[in-house]
Amino acid sequence: MTSPPSLQTTPTSEEDVAYNNMCKEHNHLMETLPKGHGWRVQYIYNYKGFWLNPNTIKSNLLLHTYFKSHTTDIFLATFPKAGTTWLKSLMFSTLNRHHHAFSDHPLHHHGPQSAFPILDVESYPITDFTTNFSDVPRLFNTHFPYTLLPACMDACKFVYVCRDPKDVLISKWHFVSKLRSKDLPPLTLDKAIELFQQGVSEYGPFWEHVLSYWRASLESPDKILFLKYEELKKQPEVEVKKLAAFMGKPFTMEEEKKGVVGEIVKLCSFKNLSNLEVNKTGVDKFANVAVIETKNFFRKGEIGDWKNYLSEEMKERIDRITDEKLQGSGLTLTTRV
Ligand code: A3P
Repeated sequence: MTSPPSLQTTPTSEEDVAYNNMCKEHNHLMETLPKGHGWRVQYIYNYKGFWLNPNTIKSNLLLHTYFKSHTTDIFLATFPKAGTTWLKSLMFSTLNRHHHAFSDHPLHHHGPQSAFPILDVESYPITDFTTNFSDVPRLFNTHFPYTLLPACMDACKFVYVCRDPKDVLISKWHFVSKLRSKDLPPLTLDKAIELFQQGVSEYGPFWEHVLSYWRASLESPDKILFLKYEELKKQPEVEVKKLAAFMGKPFTMEEEKKGVVGEIVKLCSFKNLSNLEVNKTGVDKFANVAVIETKNFFRKGEIGDWKNYLSEEMKERIDRITDEKLQGSGLTLTTRV
């Protein structure tokens, strides 16, 4: 991955012209978009109905300018902290189960984030996306809501995983508290709750994010597999079988008899992954934008940890917002556990 070229006064190629125009558009957006209180960075901006940090808005413009999807691509889409790390591991190990032995698996030596790239932090030129991929299908991850994705991705498959917003909120607050710049005052839990309820958090509002994929999944059920973190916890083998079939690699009877589904579930379990040395001491590099210690992607991995942080009144308020936002959509989130 090469670094972005500097803004040039005399563009040398068609690509540079496109890049320069994109940078100008980005600068203009930064001056004109509504600004909100950021969790990880000081300010986030409301771009087409969603709150994003400045880098992410640029990544979205890059995606629209340069990304060329293949109809065989499969995207993992999530609101941050809804189960990305888990699903990345499950999708990678399910799809590649014929290539890697469970006794010496790539996930033993590499953090799950490196299993496949996230689109939201890639930089120009997007060479990795066009040249270095020989795998079919290509796997990518994104946190962008469905409505912010380029139209070329409509033909592709998506796996979306959602989670009780109360657990997402608590998970996100912990995660961000570790990564937030030390130059900024800490984000208190009370402030995080207030902002989350208002929808002001990176990639938020949470509910509109979930609904963007839910509505798309109703229109194209064969293109979007909608999963729930809580269901995965309760019946992982059932959900992994759905995942395999959706990705075009259903388990054979023989594989099921041999316990392959169980092996994948065990390999990707919170207990197994969080105890691997690579995930305790490693780091994940996200293009030229961020370096994050892998251990930050593993905290408790439980359903209902919000009970240790939210009062009954706070819980009621978030559940009420969830009910109101999802009313009439046909979607229910697992909020009562
Ligand atoms: P908690 O903070 O509630 O523990 P993401 O991967 O989208 O960033 O989400 C991180 C959340 O998923 C964290 O939740 C993390 O502990 C949990 N998690 C990570 N790996 C997991 C796994 N293999 N199984 C279940 N949960 C997992």
